[in-house]
Amino acid sequence: MSFDNTKWVWTNGQLVDWSSATFHVSSHALHYGTGVFEGIRCYETQDGPAVFRLDAHLDRLFASAAAYRLPIPFSKDELEEAICDTILKNDFNGCYIRPICFYGSAGLSVHPRNCPVEVAILTWPWAAYLGEDGLKKGVRVTESSWTKFHSRMMPTTAKACGGYVNSMLAVREAIDGGFDEAILLDIDGNLAEGSGENLFIIRDGKIYTNNEDASILMGITRDAAITIARDLGYEVEVKMFGLDDLLNADEAFFTGTAAEVTPIRECDGTQIGIGARGPITEAIQEVFFAATSGKDPRYQKWLTPVASAVGRRLTAVGSRQ
Ligand SMILES: Cc1ncc(COP(=O)(O)O)c(C=O)c1O
Repeated sequence: MSFDNTKWVWTNGQLVDWSSATFHVSSHALHYGTGVFEGIRCYETQDGPAVFRLDAHLDRLFASAAAYRLPIPFSKDELEEAICDTILKNDFNGCYIRPICFYGSAGLSVHPRNCPVEVAILTWPWAAYLGEDGLKKGVRVTESSWTKFHSRMMPTTAKACGGYVNSMLAVREAIDGGFDEAILLDIDGNLAEGSGENLFIIRDGKIYTNNEDASILMGITRDAAITIARDLGYEVEVKMFGLDDLLNADEAFFTGTAAEVTPIRECDGTQIGIGARGPITEAIQEVFFAATSGKDPRYQKWLTPVASAVGRRLTAVGSRQ
C-alpha cells in the first residue's frame, strides 16, 4: 500500500495538494483517538469509477459521530459530493476512500471542549487487503490473546479511531506469530471478529454469522454477503458462535471493505474444511465481485457512479438559472 499516487486530499471543504493536507500536533484526536471514520471502496465499472454502498457508509459515519457526540459540520450530501470530487481530481478508476472526522486543536483536556471538528477525505489505490493469494487460497488466522472491547467500554457499532488500538494490538501479535490475521473473542468467549473484518462460518450447507451481541462492528460487506448468500438460495442464520464452531466448520470467510470476501483456510494450525477456499465461499465471492464491478444488475443499486455527483451538481446549477 502506498500514497504515492494520491495528489489531492479534501480537507474542511477544499481540495488541497497532498503536502498541504496537515493538522496541528495539538489536535485532540492525535492524543486521545477522538475521531470517527469510514473505509469505503470505489471500483472500476463500465460506467466509470463507482463507489460501493456509499449511502450505507455515510449513514454509519453519521451514526458513529452521533455515538461520540461529535457534530460533523457537513451534510451527508456534501460529503458524498466531496468524496466523488476527490476521486475524480485524483483521476482514480478504483481506490480506497477514507473520510475522517475528528476533534482538532483548542486544548488537551480530555473533554474536547471548544475543539473544532475537522473533516478530511483521503483516497488511494489499495490492492486486496489480505493479498491476492489470500482471496484465492484463503488466509491463516490465530485466536488473539486480546479481547474485543465490549459495548459497556466503548460503542462497538461505531467506527472510531481509538477503537483501532485494540485491533492494532491483535493484528500485530498475529503477524508477529506468522499468521495473516487475528480473530478476537468477546468478553464472554464467543468469537467476535477479525481485527478489520467480520466473520462467517459454513456448516452442512448453512451459513452463520454473528451480530452486535458479539461486540462486532456491523459491517456493510457483511450485510452485502448476507444478501448475496440468500439470493443464491443459502440459508443464513445470525447467531453467536465459538472457536469450536470455527474449527469444525466446512468453510469460513472474512468480510470487510478492505478484505472484501476472503476465505479462511486455517486457524492456529487446524485446517478448516478442505484447507482452501470452499465452494460456497467462492460462489459468494464471485457474485460479490460481479456486484462491485457493476456486472450484476441486481446490485446496481449498491453503486454510486462518481460522475453522477458532478452531474447532479451541474443540474442543480442549471436549475438555478
Ligand atoms: C473491526 C472491523 N470489523 C468489521 C469490519 C467490516 O466492516 P465493513 O464491511 O463495513 O468494511 C471492519 C472494516 O471496516 C472492521 O474494521
